[in-house]
Amino acid sequence: MRRTKGADPALQREAQVARALREIGAALAPSEELDDILELLLAKAQELLESERATLYILDETTGELVSRIVVGGETRAVRMRVGFGIAGIVAQTGKTIRVSDAYMDPRFEPQWDILTGFKTRSILATPLKNHLGSTIGVLQVLNKRVDNEFTDDDEALLISLGTQAAVVIDNSRLVLRLKEKNRQLLETHQRLEQRVRELQLLFELERSTARATSLPELATAALNHIVAACDVLGAAILVCDEETGDLLLFELDSTKDTGPQSRSVKSGEGWLKRSMLAGETRILDAHDLSETPVEARFAFPVLAGIVAPLEGDEANLGAVGLFGLRKARAFEHDDLELVRLLSSNISTAVRLHRAATAREKTERLTSIGRLLSQVVHDFKTPMTVISGYSQLMVDCEDRKQRTNYAEEILRQFELVTSMQREVLEFARGERSIFVRRVYLARFFNDLIKQIEREISGLPIELSTQIDAKASARFDESRIARAVHNLIRNAIEAMVSKGGRLTLAASVSDGSMIIEVADTGPGIPEAISGKLFQSFVTANKPGGTGLGLAIVKKIVDEHGGAVIVESSQHGAKFRIVLPQSPEKPSGQFAVAQKTQTRSASRPPSVPPAGK
Ligand SMILES: Nc1ncnc2c1ncn2[C@@H]1O[C@H](COP(=O)(O)OP(=O)(O)OP(=O)(O)O)[C@@H](O)[C@H]1O
Ligand SMILES: [Mg+2]
Repeated sequence: MRRTKGADPALQREAQVARALREIGAALAPSEELDDILELLLAKAQELLESERATLYILDETTGELVSRIVVGGETRAVRMRVGFGIAGIVAQTGKTIRVSDAYMDPRFEPQWDILTGFKTRSILATPLKNHLGSTIGVLQVLNKRVDNEFTDDDEALLISLGTQAAVVIDNSRLVLRLKEKNRQLLETHQRLEQRVRELQLLFELERSTARATSLPELATAALNHIVAACDVLGAAILVCDEETGDLLLFELDSTKDTGPQSRSVKSGEGWLKRSMLAGETRILDAHDLSETPVEARFAFPVLAGIVAPLEGDEANLGAVGLFGLRKARAFEHDDLELVRLLSSNISTAVRLHRAATAREKTERLTSIGRLLSQVVHDFKTPMTVISGYSQLMVDCEDRKQRTNYAEEILRQFELVTSMQREVLEFARGERSIFVRRVYLARFFNDLIKQIEREISGLPIELSTQIDAKASARFDESRIARAVHNLIRNAIEAMVSKGGRLTLAASVSDGSMIIEVADTGPGIPEAISGKLFQSFVTANKPGGTGLGLAIVKKIVDEHGGAVIVESSQHGAKFRIVLPQSPEKPSGQFAVAQKTQTRSASRPPSVPPAGK
């Protein structure tokens, strides 16, 4: 039923409606500010439908209530209404438009809102808002028609059309919001993933470079460079506690200075790194914290923010790591704490591994020095025996010239002892080398033979020698003398009880010098034949230490040569083969040639060149 008031007002209204819908349409375009659009829509509904109040109820699906988010007319109120109660509640429940001309005459009307607000409801027009799936998502309601006090069919059609608009706005807006939320979540996940990848990259790089470091400063420098580059900080510092002295060593890197990483020891006082180390606490520091207690590092920039973490270890007080001064205008956050914890555990592992390696190296060096000393002490036997022999001869000798000879011989033995001592010291300093020079076999073996003769005098042992007297060869005289002595002594010991023949032969042919020591003893015991050249392998010999042949092998290895053993029940024969490198100036330290010791249990060691 339509009540017209003449053509003009009707035309005016049509124009008004068209304008209002255009405005609403224009406002819908950006479809972002939902509240603004709905407010416009309500204002237009109130105006076009000539009502006193327009209300939009949105269905809250979780509570099953209608919630009025906007009340037009100067006030904003939140009104809640159960679905199925009151006119709007019934519209929401049935999905049908309701028009009421006198509210108080309608039993469906709930007057409590009038009572509460002092408003007097007369006529009501309410229409459901439906989403794209056809479900009700709210109710649009106008109250009290100003003219004639009753809403018309036109009003109803217009409200339904406005309701459709509102539903589209709300629906779209929800879809947009949902999309936006999804996008935001995606972006966050993406950023988090990117951050994780960056952190993993940093940790990987850190581990790789700290693993390559051979000293603590190298390790700290590598770690600091990576941290400062990857964490967007102006400076970083690592505090490490010396396990033996308890001294604190500080490594710091200030990216605002071009000095690179610096280190110094921190003896007294307490800063944030030491605090973190002692308390085992990871902590974000603000400007206030840093003004109360400074950080140990001497940064050129004002340190207003920082984050410190202790280095974790089995032992307490390993040290601490800290990041200071952010490049970007932001504060250190929870995520940074996690990263610093990861960094700290990475650096801790590197420091602990480094300490273990240093300790192992030290032990190995001490063990080697101990082994070398025991070898030298073993070889002292020979010169000592010779010295004591000549001393006794000197006591009984009347002839002055002969005594001088004996004294010279004693002095030579002292030189031998001194050179052995020098060897140990050279090794301790890490300067192992052999002293190779041209030696005439006649002179070298004459001296040796004299000593052997003295050793076997009184024993049932016959000495046979075959020395190529005209030949010469290049080798370390004192070392090869020691090696031959050890072989001779073993041969004598093998025949001492039953007697026999000792053969010493030396020659140079095909670019090698060959020295042979053979005996007619019982041969090498089967039990040790496979490990003859290992240290401390001895058999059937009271007082034997098992070092003699190990020393022989080592000396021959150093010359790049080989030791070959032949053994049977009728005796043992040891052959030393020393390859002859091209002539070098006499008296130079030389690099041994690298050939395999055939009887060796490991490849020959090559001493460093030029020493
Ligand atoms: N010519 C040999 N005849 C028989 N057995 C030998 C001979 N040379 C070495 N051996 C055996 O090899 C073992 C190891 O010799 P090696 O010279 O290394 O140590 P050692 O003679 O027992 O003790 P050390 O030389 O340190 O006083 C000897 O104990 C011995 O059993
Ligand atoms: Mg021996």
